[in-house]
Amino acid sequence: MKSALTGIKQLATCANQDLQPKRGLELRDVGVIENATIVVENGRILTLGSASSLSKMVAEIPNENIYDIGGKAVVPGFVDSHTHTLFAGTREREFAMRCEGKSYMEILNAGGGILNSSKMFAEADDKSILRQTRDRLRRMLEHGSTTVEIKSGYGLDTDQEIRALRLITELRDENKQNIFRTFLGAHAIPPDYKKSPDDFVRLVCNEMLPIVGSKGLADYCDVFCEAGVFDAIQTEQIFQAAVDQGLRLRLHSDEIEAIGGTEIGCAMGAMSVDHLVAITDQGIEAVAKSRTIANLLPGTAYSLMKSPAPARKLIEAGAAVALSTDCNPGSCYTESMPMIISLACLTMNMSPEEALNAATFNGACALGDQENVGSLERGKVADILVLDGSDYRILPYHFGVNPVKRVMRAGQWIN
Ligand code: NIG
Ligand code: FE
Repeated sequence: MKSALTGIKQLATCANQDLQPKRGLELRDVGVIENATIVVENGRILTLGSASSLSKMVAEIPNENIYDIGGKAVVPGFVDSHTHTLFAGTREREFAMRCEGKSYMEILNAGGGILNSSKMFAEADDKSILRQTRDRLRRMLEHGSTTVEIKSGYGLDTDQEIRALRLITELRDENKQNIFRTFLGAHAIPPDYKKSPDDFVRLVCNEMLPIVGSKGLADYCDVFCEAGVFDAIQTEQIFQAAVDQGLRLRLHSDEIEAIGGTEIGCAMGAMSVDHLVAITDQGIEAVAKSRTIANLLPGTAYSLMKSPAPARKLIEAGAAVALSTDCNPGSCYTESMPMIISLACLTMNMSPEEALNAATFNGACALGDQENVGSLERGKVADILVLDGSDYRILPYHFGVNPVKRVMRAGQWIN
């Protein structure tokens, strides 16, 4: 059964024919069609183009399947390719400590941070974690994120990490959003392993990863590569074990200090290296020359009161940049991709076009799903956002509120 979206004043398709991530000047083009129509069939885009070119086709669609969106702008559903949205409880107390000047690492080293969330995760039952996470996923969807990556990482032991991945799989199978699963067993060093972190790395490699791999519980493996957490050599060991299990790679690197993770991620073919706040010139060169996506999380820099990643330098060097929320209970608690797009423009000097491509098509590339999502093109999934304005630049411009008026996920309106 066909349906049609008509009355689109401005359609930003974010299309790219060759399925390669956008770099340099390509990031400046969001493929605008003025006065457009989109025809949807079986959850996918049958065709799209100028209203006049499709008027005959629309005339054959029953009235009740025609949605006149009244002169608004339309963009692809956002791809939030880095989140930790499966968690239990919140950490307002630590937020207040950071406002008073305590650093993120000081809080973690004193047993707070990820270790605090890990305790709350172990104490909460499945039902409560699912309920809390479904609420967040619903908010993400209402803010336009039709595709979301979710990491484990608050387990910190084999049973709890497997539980986390089972819960993420359950949420994925509910099929409200397009969800991808990442195993982040190496997220913090558990207190019992403080004196022998290499033993924990062995546990991740020799016990956790073989279970994750053999049971098919994750699509990717991530590591928090950071001074005082996992170093570059440990990251490489975990990555090798993950590749042996058929997992693709992504990495937290240069979030606080540069310790060589970005270079290792790029050399090992990671899908993305994420954060990059403290990236060196050598790191910029490595990511620019590679196929790895530079996944920037300006909400985290904002929330940690740090300068953001050097987006302009990365783009000018030729890196393929994406944007994500990092939604987590510690360093950045937001479900809103529009807020991230706004921060990308206002704190990293990205143009609205660069930010929109980074939040859609390049995000899809960071997950390897650009054949299906990330742009509005014939044959792709009908993940479509109607904005509360007639120009897509409303997204970064009207910040702190939700500029997404309506969301279509796989051909169905969710609101
Ligand atoms: O990307 N740095 C590691 N992980 C998250 C924070 C997780 C947390 O604090 O709970 C991040 O910043
Ligand atoms: Fe993160």
